[in-house]
Amino acid sequence: MEEIVYKKILYPTDFSETAKLALSHVKAFKTLGGEEVILLHVIDERDIKKKDILSLLLGVAGLNKSVEEFESELKEKLIKEAKNKMENIKKELEDIGFKVRDMVVIGIPHEEIVEIAKNCDVDIIIMGSHGITNLKEILLGSVTENVIKKSDKPVLIIRRKE
Ligand SMILES: Nc1ncnc2c1ncn2[C@@H]1O[C@H](COP(=O)(O)OP(=O)(O)OP(=O)(O)O)[C@@H](O)[C@H]1O
Ligand SMILES: [Mg+2]
Repeated sequence: MEEIVYKKILYPTDFSETAKLALSHVKAFKTLGGEEVILLHVIDERDIKKKDILSLLLGVAGLNKSVEEFESELKEKLIKEAKNKMENIKKELEDIGFKVRDMVVIGIPHEEIVEIAKNCDVDIIIMGSHGITNLKEILLGSVTENVIKKSDKPVLIIRRKE
């Protein structure tokens, strides 16, 4: 029988409370054979592709910039901000002996998570049951729901706080 080991972990985060709860569980894998963590944040491209909103914002701010220019500056800023937020998490994981790769990509969150899990050949995905939206009556956030539907990797889902 094939031996199962969880060496390489994918930890996608939207920096929400529930995603933060999942971090403790990622850490627990260190003593279970965990070696490497891929820390991933996906900037939702649908949020920055709203050209009409961008051009309205430019108008309100009185800025004389093209929407394309504004969009690329916005992307750069969002990437930088996410990298900053990841720094502490990266350090925490490195301090307990994990090798950490931090990634910020732009796309559709669940698609990027599924794709990166496959391409990086991770052993497990650890994520929150909910994220930033955190609707009371919803059993699972849509990102997590789509990941468990579309990825063939094991997924450990950490519940939100009641
Ligand atoms: N943009 C993202 N990048 C990386 N991981 C994410 C992202 N969004 C969500 N996740 C991961 O998925 C988990 C569940 O979040 P999800 O977005 O599915 O729930 P939600 O925000 O409550 O609901 P929804 O997004 O459907 O409105 C998070 O705890 C986090 O681990
Ligand atoms: Mg969400």
